[in-house]
Amino acid sequence: MSVDDEKRAAAEGAAQFVESGMRVGLGSGTTVAFLLEALGRIKPDARFVATSPATEAVARQLGLRIESFDEIDTLDLAIDGADQIAPDGWLLKGRGGAHLREKIVAGAARRFVVIADSTKPVASLQAPVPLELNAFGLASTLRHLEPTRVRDAPRSPDGGVIADFLGEFKDPMEFARRLSSTPGVVAHGLFAPSLVTEIIVATGKTVSRSVPGGSR
Ligand code: A5P
Repeated sequence: MSVDDEKRAAAEGAAQFVESGMRVGLGSGTTVAFLLEALGRIKPDARFVATSPATEAVARQLGLRIESFDEIDTLDLAIDGADQIAPDGWLLKGRGGAHLREKIVAGAARRFVVIADSTKPVASLQAPVPLELNAFGLASTLRHLEPTRVRDAPRSPDGGVIADFLGEFKDPMEFARRLSSTPGVVAHGLFAPSLVTEIIVATGKTVSRSVPGGSR
């Protein structure tokens, strides 16, 4: 089975969780593209919130009902991919630069399900750590976060500069705290296990589901 087949298998497993009447957050990336495809086929009578303009455009094209996330305070479910998944449930996300909105959506969801192929589980999370930085004071923020490089990518939909921390870090919790307390950091791609309800990983034909320790 190819990596794309694994992404499809994980995504199709998660698509079954979407029920009529639910409000559902849709992540971003190539694994979520398979989720959108599955939902486009099933066409559940649910309302969706998108974490990126790309996801929103495809979801609309497929006939899914997309709503603004300005006034909805809770989602029943959110489904998203990940770049790296540690054994304890810490995630690295943001290779597509959508991690700010992805984290807001994950945090608003009663149930956050991560879908992944077999290349995503790792022994420990490694750089690059995606960042979204405020443009004001950018040089100073970068100086605090050496070695960090601005990504050759457009600004985020919220106006942030997308960058990557390229150094070493050992403890994701400690490093996440450091990033969150650095002025100018709008968001980082470290997602704590407490955000994650369930992780679905497809390895060949086997689809396994796990619940990280700190699950809500
Ligand atoms: C988008 O910014 C990311 O957080 C994606 O969710 C993550 O990179 C997974 O993407 P793929 O499904 O394309 O690997």
